Amino acid sequence: MLTQKNLDALSEALNSQQGAELVHFVTSKNLGWTIQPFSSAVVELAASLGLIQRAERSAPFTHVGYVVADSLREYFFWKQRGGMLHNQGNHPAFDPRRFAGKRVLELGCGFGSNLLTLNAHGAATIGVDVEPIYLQLAPILFALEGQGSPDIRCASAEAIPIGDHSQDVVLLLGALQYMDIEAALAEARRVLVPGGELITLGGYLGAITREWLHTMRGRSWFPEGLHTARTMVDSMVYELTGRRIRRNHEFSTSVPVYPTIGHIKRAAHRQGLEVKTAWTKVVGHELCMVARAA
Ligand SMILES: C[S@@+](CC[C@H](N)C(=O)[O-])C[C@H]1O[C@@H](n2cnc3c(N)ncnc32)[C@H](O)[C@@H]1O
Repeated sequence: MLTQKNLDALSEALNSQQGAELVHFVTSKNLGWTIQPFSSAVVELAASLGLIQRAERSAPFTHVGYVVADSLREYFFWKQRGGMLHNQGNHPAFDPRRFAGKRVLELGCGFGSNLLTLNAHGAATIGVDVEPIYLQLAPILFALEGQGSPDIRCASAEAIPIGDHSQDVVLLLGALQYMDIEAALAEARRVLVPGGELITLGGYLGAITREWLHTMRGRSWFPEGLHTARTMVDSMVYELTGRRIRRNHEFSTSVPVYPTIGHIKRAAHRQGLEVKTAWTKVVGHELCMVARAA
């Protein structure tokens, strides 16, 4: 967790003239982009905020920096897409005008970039995420965009602190792979009104297998190949046993599992969600599934 002092300092930095460069610098480090001409002032700022271990471009992130970087990277890409949803324009489910006037709950919302877009289109949004630092950062990033503090609750998607049949739409965007899929879908079904809509977007086993083959053909055995191979093993164990391999010190996004498309659809069906076949399809490397609460 960040202290109030840390949060105030970060807020001041993001609102300063160096704010945009700080977001770019942290995103670049997070993604391993190397050739970026950042000013020494922004590097010193990142160090003084405790995001990197010392005032050098190549210095590693601190633990706090690592977590803050996730949100700043999401914010960077959200700005780059002009405030649009992921895949807006690639699938009708992501047309933000569909959500106007609806109660929308996003599970695994991070700092809430999707909520920023949906609020601007007239939805009444709630977010849920397990990681408290994302929740601490959300009001700062929302204020940068001229929005009031979002309603984001710190909880696990497998036990949502929200009443039955209270939401018109539940979103699981890039998040289901980190959760107990069956339990998260059961909770989504519980909070949806009858006829309400679930929209999921995320990877699946076929896509991760193709990614692994591609990595291996490029002879990137380590660390990419090893990381993807571990994800495949985790995913296959989950596919076969329905259980996730748990490791010590795991972060909320460090151990994804990607089931098959059939597994995800069957899990939705078991939880009383009717999969809308015409709208359930692969978009890029991810499956978009749209289902209706029966
Ligand atoms: C890749 S981020 C996606 C964020 C956002 N949905 C988006 O589209 O940009 C996945 C999010 O899921 C959250 N998460 C992982 N496991 C969770 C769980 N069991 N319950 C709630 N949130 C979870 C993580 O903390 C992280 O913020």
